[in-house]
Amino acid sequence: MKELFGTLADGTQVHRWSLENGGTRLKVLSYGGIVQGLEVPDRDGRYANVCLGFDSIEEYVDSSPYFGALIGRYGNRIAKGAFTLDGERHQLSVDDGENSLHGGAQGFDRRVWDVEPFTDGTDVGLRLSYTSADGEMGYPGTLEVQVTYTLTRHGDWRIDYEAGTDRATVVNLTNHVYWNLGGEGTGTVEDHELTIAASRYTPTDPGLIPTGELAQVSGTPFDFREAKPIGRDLRAGHPQQVFAKGYDHNWVLDKGVTSEPEHVATLRDPSSGRTLRISTVEPGLQFYSGNFLDGTLTGTGGRTYRQGDALCLETQHFPDAPNHPSFPSTVLRPEQTYRTTTVHSFGA
Ligand code: BGC
Repeated sequence: MKELFGTLADGTQVHRWSLENGGTRLKVLSYGGIVQGLEVPDRDGRYANVCLGFDSIEEYVDSSPYFGALIGRYGNRIAKGAFTLDGERHQLSVDDGENSLHGGAQGFDRRVWDVEPFTDGTDVGLRLSYTSADGEMGYPGTLEVQVTYTLTRHGDWRIDYEAGTDRATVVNLTNHVYWNLGGEGTGTVEDHELTIAASRYTPTDPGLIPTGELAQVSGTPFDFREAKPIGRDLRAGHPQQVFAKGYDHNWVLDKGVTSEPEHVATLRDPSSGRTLRISTVEPGLQFYSGNFLDGTLTGTGGRTYRQGDALCLETQHFPDAPNHPSFPSTVLRPEQTYRTTTVHSFGA
């Protein structure tokens, strides 16, 4: 189903698409490819919307910290918003202190996408496309992007990203859903149990730019190799947590880059019984514990969002990879096609 969600200041209409399959209900906006709602049942079959969002387009435009949005051209930070590729230096839009975050001031989260619904066997979904002009936000190359949201008959939400360029560039696409498996607006996620299949993470400087080191999680608050409530070590006083006001780091997934999605993380809410399993082809996962939610935003359910009321699990290449030759490469050349897939599976 397609309905009018709102109108942007320039008169562009924003639509909302609703789809359902395998027990999962998804609401997607043409603005930012935003997942505005995602409902799944708990262990007693009761549905709740498990992602943070807003009721109006104005709130998304004015104050969204990337709720549910597609992120591009580059998920997470690039130091000083600059990198050199094939000997040419590129200056990007700087929107986070001295750094570029999530594609710059007008990233893919703030663009209006073309949306086409489809049915494919037992799958239903949406194809979102957007062409990013050469030089947009400082990135080289015209980037043709297609993102497919699929709901499978098992209720999995699968995201397939594809992009091509006419000039060498860097790309790192992800999605920025804020999860609360108890239901958005129900309070903290500190009791959610998280598992991440990663023995290492990328420590950062105070501006959240990776230092380049791949540090062991063993013996630190960053060890999520066995299921652990997020709150258990959240106040452990580790210097890295002080920079981030909690967790806001990239985990180096043990499996590395894979051609097929592999299971890398599980989130479980003990009170509702809801679980989320994430599989991806990506080598990294940004776990952000909602540190910058500060009680100033009111969500779809009419409740205030406070620090730690949700968390993000963003599959990705590592932050600032264009400035770290030792990190898996994010370079895309005209003869290549960028492809990446992440699958979210729900249970109770
Ligand atoms: C980043 C955080 C940032 C947040 C935006 C996350 O992906 O890692 O540092 O504040 O996005 O709300």
